[in-house]
Amino acid sequence: MESNTEEPQPEGAPAQPEPAAAEQPAAATVDTPVATPVPKRHVLTRRLFILGGFWTTIGLAMVGLIGPSLDFFYPRKVTGAARDVFVSKDLIPGPGDEPVAIPEGRFFLLNLEPGVTPNGEETPGGLLALWRKCPHLGCTVPWRADFTFLGRTGWFRCPCHGSTYTKEGGILVAGPAPRPMDVFPLEVQDDNSIKVSTGLTVAEKGGPENPSKTVPYDA
Ligand code: FES
Repeated sequence: MESNTEEPQPEGAPAQPEPAAAEQPAAATVDTPVATPVPKRHVLTRRLFILGGFWTTIGLAMVGLIGPSLDFFYPRKVTGAARDVFVSKDLIPGPGDEPVAIPEGRFFLLNLEPGVTPNGEETPGGLLALWRKCPHLGCTVPWRADFTFLGRTGWFRCPCHGSTYTKEGGILVAGPAPRPMDVFPLEVQDDNSIKVSTGLTVAEKGGPENPSKTVPYDA
């Protein structure tokens, strides 16, 4: 068994050389690659999710509440380049007949009987061309032969917001429109056909005097 105790040197004996220190191996160089940082992840937290759902619901509710009102006030596109439309004699209604739609010119042709209309306006009788564009927001107004209102049947009634106009001149009696239906000027031709000038630039603003704007017609 080895002993760690150094043996004492006899006095006068030459000094023993120190054993050479054991050579240390050179430290190895480790080439460690630099780590690339992981990009930050966008985590949808529960709080964020609930908040998003809440505000989305509020937004949809607001659109539902305000949307119809905005749609109500949004003006429809109004077309109506000025041009003449000719209506042959056989299409022209007789005095007091139902209005005749002329789709090509977007107007109704009326032939009023002379006298006082059911609404109390005076008319000399004759032809009147009513633009089908509602003066409210521009919807196309149909003739409703079956619609009964104020004890009478047969009205022009706008499908958009319910403006209602008389058969005798398109006078406004109900609804949000600002005035009666607008009128196109017309001329009777030699062959008893008529020429109607249509379009935005030539339309005459409708008013309670519409029934007095008729053009005499004897065919
Ligand atoms: S467009 Fe509104 S009542 Fe006709």
